[in-house]
Amino acid sequence: MNTLTDRVTKAPLNTTWMGPSLSGLGHYLPPTTITNHDLGKIVDTSDEWISSRTGIKSRRRAGALQATSDLAVEAAHGALAEANLAVEDIDLILLATATPDTPVPATASLVQEALGAHGAGAMDLNAGCSGFLYGLHTAGAFVRSGYSQNVLLIGAETLTRVTDYSDRQTCILFGDGAGACVVSNKGQMDVLYSGVGSDGSHTELIQIQAGGSRSPASADTVAAHQHFLQLDGKRVFKQAVRRMSEAANTALEATGLQASDVSWLIPHQANERIMSAVAEIVGIAVPQVVNDIAETGNTSAASVPIAMDRARQAGAFKDGDLIMLVAFGAGLTWACQILRYNES
Ligand SMILES: CC(C)(COP(=O)(O)OP(=O)(O)OC[C@H]1O[C@@H](n2cnc3c(N)ncnc32)[C@H](O)[C@@H]1OP(=O)(O)O)[C@@H](O)C(=O)NCCC(=O)NCCS
Repeated sequence: MNTLTDRVTKAPLNTTWMGPSLSGLGHYLPPTTITNHDLGKIVDTSDEWISSRTGIKSRRRAGALQATSDLAVEAAHGALAEANLAVEDIDLILLATATPDTPVPATASLVQEALGAHGAGAMDLNAGCSGFLYGLHTAGAFVRSGYSQNVLLIGAETLTRVTDYSDRQTCILFGDGAGACVVSNKGQMDVLYSGVGSDGSHTELIQIQAGGSRSPASADTVAAHQHFLQLDGKRVFKQAVRRMSEAANTALEATGLQASDVSWLIPHQANERIMSAVAEIVGIAVPQVVNDIAETGNTSAASVPIAMDRARQAGAFKDGDLIMLVAFGAGLTWACQILRYNES
């Protein structure tokens, strides 16, 4: 089915919470910045065009020696410190990424070794830009089943490594970064609702064509730029608005909440115009939308946890706030969660 397919829970708001919950947040952005002016020197574009069409002013790029796992480890340290947990407490590492260090092994295993989390299982998950929300859905299920106590969930990407800097439509969008949290039974943000959806009939809209079993890497695939991310911007834009607003409305219907009950909407940071359109359709006022895209661009699976952590650090959330996460990405995939923020 091409609809939201599953729910971790549909919780009444007045009962004792039994999980899952997020118990820490952390993020990492590499220091090097690519501004719109920098891009204007390599493709036919301008700061005015990029800012007005996307809301992006600059994005980050990982250092030459930094891979996705390095960004993920930095974000993970922040999440563990925030959650007041030691690495020994983690029993599963779930890493959402579309830009792993290498196809094999899973980048989560590299993160496990770097953290010294020797008691944990480790695996990657790829749901494109919806990856972190799919990861939260999965981590929540592990926690609720009792298979895991503390899942370290990370969304991490080095999209600049698969960006074609001769294509002005895509190179303006993407940046690098990582966000992380711990999912357990008791924490600061209770997951009241979680749903995921997919439609595999539009895989061509966002893809990296070569480098897998369908089209293994060769001199020809490299020459044809088939290892770069390709995007049908206009069609993606429409699908992103449609799928995220449908996912958000399904979540409201399932929980019996109204749009006016939502304190914060944190959408995947794909394009400021996509975020505003989703908010308008769902009926959430623009000041309630966490818009973090100006300095980060689209960091795919890392975008929602980075935006959420930066909003938290800025003091945006208060006790009892209902926070809606919604994302859309390659696949196509989409997902939505409603969280309740607890101050203590
Ligand atoms: C890519 C995107 C920013 C393009 O914006 P848009 O408003 O749809 O722009 P269009 O594609 O209609 O292009 C309009 C014109 O601007 C031009 N243009 C495209 N990129 C440009 C750039 N960086 N600078 C200047 N002009 C550009 C196009 O060539 C076109 O020119 P034409 O009218 O002469 O043909 C927008 O479609 C988008 O954000 N899509 C979603 C992408 C995304 O989020 N992908 C990941 C999803 S998880």
